[in-house]
Amino acid sequence: MPLSFEGSGTVLAQREHFTDSGYLVLPGLLPAALLDRLVPEVDRWVDDGLRSRSIAACVDPGADGDPPPVMELELPAHGELLTHEPLLQIIADLLGAPFVFHHLHSDRHNPGAPGKPWHHDHEPNDTGDRDLVMVHALHYLGGLDGTVGTLTVVPGSHREPWSKSALAHLGTDPLPGEVVIDTLPPGSTVVINSALLHARRPAPSPPGALPRYFVDASYCQTGARWRPVKPYWRHMLATARARDLGGGRWPELFAERHFTEYARSA
Ligand SMILES: [Fe+2]
Repeated sequence: MPLSFEGSGTVLAQREHFTDSGYLVLPGLLPAALLDRLVPEVDRWVDDGLRSRSIAACVDPGADGDPPPVMELELPAHGELLTHEPLLQIIADLLGAPFVFHHLHSDRHNPGAPGKPWHHDHEPNDTGDRDLVMVHALHYLGGLDGTVGTLTVVPGSHREPWSKSALAHLGTDPLPGEVVIDTLPPGSTVVINSALLHARRPAPSPPGALPRYFVDASYCQTGARWRPVKPYWRHMLATARARDLGGGRWPELFAERHFTEYARSA
């Protein structure tokens, strides 16, 4: 059974479980009213080519790291999701420390979508301190029902110094000790330690299967400077501050001082 935030257990126990296994399932964390606004934003993000332009701005940035015309966090419901107070409270409980926003991605996986091989998403920081935690909040807007890929994780793998794609040659083949997460209600979130090995295993989509709406947001514990993944990261943080995302309740959330300069990955 996936470890769930629901049920018995103190915050301390939940934190210990997260530290040990590297993930936490939060069924139905997101309210329906927010989901109703998020889904059409994802459709617009994908169908209007905004996602493609966002990717292009990272792959081939201008001399000044020119931003795309619109960023995910400028979509109103996405901005609210990024700073959804219950989520940020849980992350604060899990980390027991201040944290800074790293990036937000939004996508729609259609039936028959390919899988994503084993990998992790932990970015380095300038002290090389692996004890500083980066987390990804994986939001499944319509839940998971096993029809458009499943989330598969290897509990405890975040404690091993794997490179990001060390096991990519295995594709999405089963690994010993893996946990498959394929049944979640709408508005569910899985918080993972970004260093946790995980994969999206493709599933045979039956006729009539619905697209899977997927948004992921990542956050880093403060205490070192983290490597940004977007060349326009300063513009991203400045926009979040200008829009007052989070309402000032999380003073470190959009602070530039927690980042190194952008450098293209080798
Ligand atoms: Fe990932």
